[in-house]
Amino acid sequence: MYKLFIKPLFFLMPPERAHYFATGCLTFLSSIPGFPALIRSIYSFNHQKLERELFGLTFKNPVGLAAGFDKDARWFNQLANLGFGFIEIGTLTPKAQIGNPQPRLFRITEDNGLINQMGFNNLGAEDAIKRLKNRKTNIIIGGNIGKNTATSNDDALTDYIFNFNTLHDYVDYFVVNVSCPNVKDLTKLQDTPFLLNLLGDLKHINTTKDKPKPILLKIAPDLNNSQLDEVIEIVAQTKIDGIIATNTTTSRENLKTDNKTITKIANGGLSGKPLTHRSTEVIKYLAEKSNKAFPIIGVGGIYSPEDAIEKLEAGADLVQIYTGFIYEGPGLIKKINKAILEKYG
Ligand SMILES: Cc1cc2nc3c(=O)[nH]c(=O)nc-3n(C[C@H](O)[C@H](O)[C@H](O)COP(=O)(O)O)c2cc1C
Repeated sequence: MYKLFIKPLFFLMPPERAHYFATGCLTFLSSIPGFPALIRSIYSFNHQKLERELFGLTFKNPVGLAAGFDKDARWFNQLANLGFGFIEIGTLTPKAQIGNPQPRLFRITEDNGLINQMGFNNLGAEDAIKRLKNRKTNIIIGGNIGKNTATSNDDALTDYIFNFNTLHDYVDYFVVNVSCPNVKDLTKLQDTPFLLNLLGDLKHINTTKDKPKPILLKIAPDLNNSQLDEVIEIVAQTKIDGIIATNTTTSRENLKTDNKTITKIANGGLSGKPLTHRSTEVIKYLAEKSNKAFPIIGVGGIYSPEDAIEKLEAGADLVQIYTGFIYEGPGLIKKINKAILEKYG
């Protein structure tokens, strides 16, 4: 139904407009009495054996919505009805910012991918709280945090700490995002001294709170093996709760889309099918090299139950989807959960 009727309609629109159209439809329909229950009956798939205990949290199932889809925590209540085990909101920054100029989201359909240059467009962490306070779903909500584009890397620490304190009462876990390629020089913050400092500070602040929250670090697929070794060392030293692997890639290797189109789009983070293999490789490397010392959330190019199981077999404990959700539709969540139940019981 989605691939036959709904996706062709969405794909007639520019991608960013399609995003707001789709979420607008979902919000409107969800306000009709009985519709949320109907959606849940179609898309949700619950089974006790799908539950996962990780860093002190109970996830209803291991399939989550990746960061960037609901940056401002506008639709998580409605999206939860589609069967996700968890939803990550953000990336949020301290101050609202408009992000990069439009158009900044591109489909490369021949490759089943997206290239985005969004640049952390969001309404700010304090604004998101207004909606997080109106939480109706009992699924886990993660908060992905970043820095404002106007904040220099030297002052970045302050931005992350502000977001952490602001959102602490309203999200179940935190993700420190230093791996988005669309904010100038942000990926330079994947530098070990900075991360040791930042994660150490956040861990310390956490101990002063009534209820400490798990802290994860989201990394780029473009790190080489020695940088991944450093990531393993950072987790060991700071004792953060886990890694999200991976964000989008700046690589443009092996694409079917013609060069002219790719050159015209220029910069941005590539997601979807072209990322499947590399993100799995990163997960496998981290899991094997660390002797599975910490939890990993696997994300990047999951389009099928097989893709999700590959990530789990590589060492992921949970998975997230974004681009595959756009291309395959909400039915993908249930399909993955059913396959996981069948395989692992
Ligand atoms: C349009 C778009 C916006 C995104 N925004 C964010 C973001 O704000 N923060 C973040 O950590 N990741 C962001 N991502 C990355 C996704 O969370 C995910 O890590 C990446 O797309 C790989 O997964 P996928 O292949 O399933 O899309 C974004 C991805 C897309 C396509």
